[in-house]
Amino acid sequence: MRRICVMGTGYVGLVSGACLADFGNAVVAVDIDETRVELLRSGEVPIYEPGLEELVDRNRESGRLSFSSDVAFAIQSSEIVFICVGTPSLPSGEVDMSFVHNAARTIGQYMEDFKIVVNKSTVPVGTGDEVEQIIRKVRPDADFDVVSNPEFLREGSAIDDFMHPDRVVIGAGSQRAMEAVVDVYRPLYQNDTPMVLTGIQSAEMIKYASNALLAAKISFINEIASVCEAYGADVTAVARGMGLDERIGPRNLFAGAGYGGSCFPKDVQGLAATARRGEVDAPLIEAIDTSNVRQRRRMVDKLHHLVGDFSNKTICLLGLSFKPDTDDIREAPALEMVASLIEAGATVKAYDPAAMEHSKQEHPDLICCEDPYTAAQDADAVVLMTEWNEFRNMDLPRLLDCAATNRFLDCRNIYDPHEMVRLGFEYVSVGRVSRSPGESDDTSSWMIPGRFSPIRT
Ligand code: UGA
Repeated sequence: MRRICVMGTGYVGLVSGACLADFGNAVVAVDIDETRVELLRSGEVPIYEPGLEELVDRNRESGRLSFSSDVAFAIQSSEIVFICVGTPSLPSGEVDMSFVHNAARTIGQYMEDFKIVVNKSTVPVGTGDEVEQIIRKVRPDADFDVVSNPEFLREGSAIDDFMHPDRVVIGAGSQRAMEAVVDVYRPLYQNDTPMVLTGIQSAEMIKYASNALLAAKISFINEIASVCEAYGADVTAVARGMGLDERIGPRNLFAGAGYGGSCFPKDVQGLAATARRGEVDAPLIEAIDTSNVRQRRRMVDKLHHLVGDFSNKTICLLGLSFKPDTDDIREAPALEMVASLIEAGATVKAYDPAAMEHSKQEHPDLICCEDPYTAAQDADAVVLMTEWNEFRNMDLPRLLDCAATNRFLDCRNIYDPHEMVRLGFEYVSVGRVSRSPGESDDTSSWMIPGRFSPIRT
């Protein structure tokens, strides 16, 4: 059991704090936002993440997890301090490191004895050295070690990702720090989770390089989808055929509306900026984001092609969050669609199981509806932007009845094109042949629907 202070009760801090407490460590999570700390103390979890509330409750009740705004006390009473603060993007694409730097200064200011300072925030390579220099400047005599321990949590499955990770990456400059942080993850170590024990710079690079490659896979399959459309191929069959090669793998090969969220766009731009700062020519890394921006734009163009001029049209959007199972709309492709439509004079009616409140704050003109059918009422087109499970089981004939036309743009390829046409939709998706009712389709009698869908893991 280790005494841990987690600085920051945002997404990463809260999930990591609760999970580290569940491993048996004594965790105090601190935040400078007193209202947030009060909320957490009263048992409320201000984040939408399946399983998090129960986990926080359980560990709070057992006394292993507490919340405080007394940063000095939290630092002084811990052996290990995890920095879990935000690292947003600056307009230049560079990473805003001010929260990490402030956290390092605070640690230097309050520490009284040996501390292990673990950076969990996603940061450019070289941050470990910066953190060390900042603490050293505040406290030239201090005894401390800096460690990099990046997180690989996905929103919506963060608890499971923390408890059953593919790997744990720890980058340290000393044996005592490495041993202490390995000990924090003892339950995983005992479960044979692979541990990558390396230097600080390498650990920092592992995080950026992993996110950039995952994002690159998405941009790659999105470009392949466009080529498929030009030649009548089906990107879901192509992705499946590619993904069965173990060197490629089936995951992150879903063509769609482009990637969003608080990580991929920011981290890919951050890596490109890091390469530029190091005077490294990295055209492939630069292209990942450019390709994603185009993919999002392509969805707007597809809709334009389907319905014509947007002005005075009513468009129904299904899904607003950047992916299912979250209320997060940061960099969500759906929000870019909303902005383009509203700007061009369309009326936008939307339904999302969790993200309507946030979306409405950003776009007060957006009409939020209580279910997909109300959103589709009198719509000139229905556009599926986020693949929430409840859309997979929708009453599609009812949806068709509600809408003013039969046009359907599926930006996530969740329906079978043959079935959609059979139901009477004019169906457009991503990287697959567009179909209208009445068009001859000589493959539908022998091509097994779904047979070519990529493996979802
Ligand atoms: C991502 C990484 O997957 C995590 O490993 C990482 O820890 C996290 O960023 C982070 O750096 O904190 P997350 O942003 O929660 O996690 O979401 P993903 O599930 O990876 O999805 C990101 C975006 O890619 C979504 O917009 C999703 O719709 C899109 N996507 C994903 C596709 O368009 N196609 C795919 O095949 C997969």
